[in-house]
Amino acid sequence: MVARHGSTQPTLVGLQGDFLDLYGDLLDHIDQEEEVLFPFCAGLDADAGPADRVLEQLRMHEAAHSDVGETLARMREMAGGYDSSASLGTTHKVLLESLQGLEQDLHQHIHEENNVLFRRLRDELGEPAAATG
Ligand SMILES: [Fe+2]
Repeated sequence: MVARHGSTQPTLVGLQGDFLDLYGDLLDHIDQEEEVLFPFCAGLDADAGPADRVLEQLRMHEAAHSDVGETLARMREMAGGYDSSASLGTTHKVLLESLQGLEQDLHQHIHEENNVLFRRLRDELGEPAAATG
């Protein structure tokens, strides 16, 4: 898509760059959740010691979620609001629909962690809820 239309549609180049950055960041984010945050959470009942580390992890993940939200907003703007009626063709239409689906999935992920899981963890740790966007 970028190779064919990038010279006349520079937003595709920016969109590709943000997508690749997001992809790399998400792989690191998921690894951090699976290898550090969730095991900490699982150990909360047995050992109150790591509470500060859990809170540190929560703040780190919330900051990462905020960064993802900013990237998604920028991508949406570059993609014309994912308006597939303005697509350059079938491939571009599928790209726009797929990116919109990714955006929805990531917003759901962020909502479930920030507003459900992390809030519950903070309640268990006696910490006030963080401001989330
Ligand atoms: Fe997350």
